[in-house]
Amino acid sequence: MSGKRIGVLTSGGDAPGMNAAIRSVVRTALSHDMSVIGIRHGYAGLLEHDFHEMDLLSVSNILQRGGTVLHSSRSKEFQTEKGLQKAAQICREISLDGLVTIGGDGTFRGARDLSLQGVPCVGIPGTIDNHIACSDYTIGFDTAINTVREFLDKLSDTTQSHNRCFLVEVMGHNAGDIALHTGIACGAIAVLLPEMPFNLDQIIEKMMNTKQAGKNYFLIVVSEGVTNTKHDEAGSIFEMAREIEEKTGMGTRANIVGYVQRGGIPTTKERVIASEMGYHAVELLEKGIGNRVVVVRNNEIVDLDILEALSMKKPFNHRLYEIANAISM
Ligand code: F6P
Repeated sequence: MSGKRIGVLTSGGDAPGMNAAIRSVVRTALSHDMSVIGIRHGYAGLLEHDFHEMDLLSVSNILQRGGTVLHSSRSKEFQTEKGLQKAAQICREISLDGLVTIGGDGTFRGARDLSLQGVPCVGIPGTIDNHIACSDYTIGFDTAINTVREFLDKLSDTTQSHNRCFLVEVMGHNAGDIALHTGIACGAIAVLLPEMPFNLDQIIEKMMNTKQAGKNYFLIVVSEGVTNTKHDEAGSIFEMAREIEEKTGMGTRANIVGYVQRGGIPTTKERVIASEMGYHAVELLEKGIGNRVVVVRNNEIVDLDILEALSMKKPFNHRLYEIANAISM
């Protein structure tokens, strides 16, 4: 019997599977005789005393739901020294022995800062972008790429019917993982990623060669990190679509998948990994270990020091990019 009291929050962009992680944290803690406080709206909610005691039933029937039942936000106040001190003080006032924070790298920086203030925190990577260097996988990625795949498959139907070219912008922040995976899965002629330079004229030339061979429709997947989602400025996918239409003579349309890729029913993979991570995080806090992040490395759930985790650089999958280019037409 540990009798410890821990908190759990979700912060940053929501991601399918976050609920499975929350459920796992709560159920694991309760089964280890620990109590759990659910903090709503991330670090902002902590600063506003927006929390409640969680029990077995408060996480019933949430596994299959996208979003996060604890809600999320990005708090500017928490990022200030004053905000941080206030948050640490509140954690002490409500006698938290630890805190599980689920989110992206901003969430991890918050967990590191709070840990340095004496509140043991354990981070769980939850973001559709899969852009966190220390983990091979982030909760939400699998569901997001399946949502985008469905979107692209539907677009392919209409692209083929009208002999058009479709440019599709997907999310990913500063990483091209969503674009690369869905581009391969849906047969894009090109994937434009923030990690790799590209030349639109070369892509157009490839399209023209393929057209001569008899193909009359094309899909190009563009990661938001390339266009920086400036939809009304030069470099946007609308601008690119205009250029492609001008140079190829093919009807070309730009599409933005948008926030739909952040929602939806989490896949099985998502739910299982989130459950494993939640379990692991609580085990650490039960032992009084904080300042860690729970990650996937080489197909195993392990934990790392947050400082070390935050200093890592995400390796780019050159092999997958090479394959995408080799088999696209
Ligand atoms: O991190 C997830 C993400 O959806 C990114 O892909 C995107 O750049 C960003 O969040 C959008 O954030 P916001 O919710 O602030 O619009």
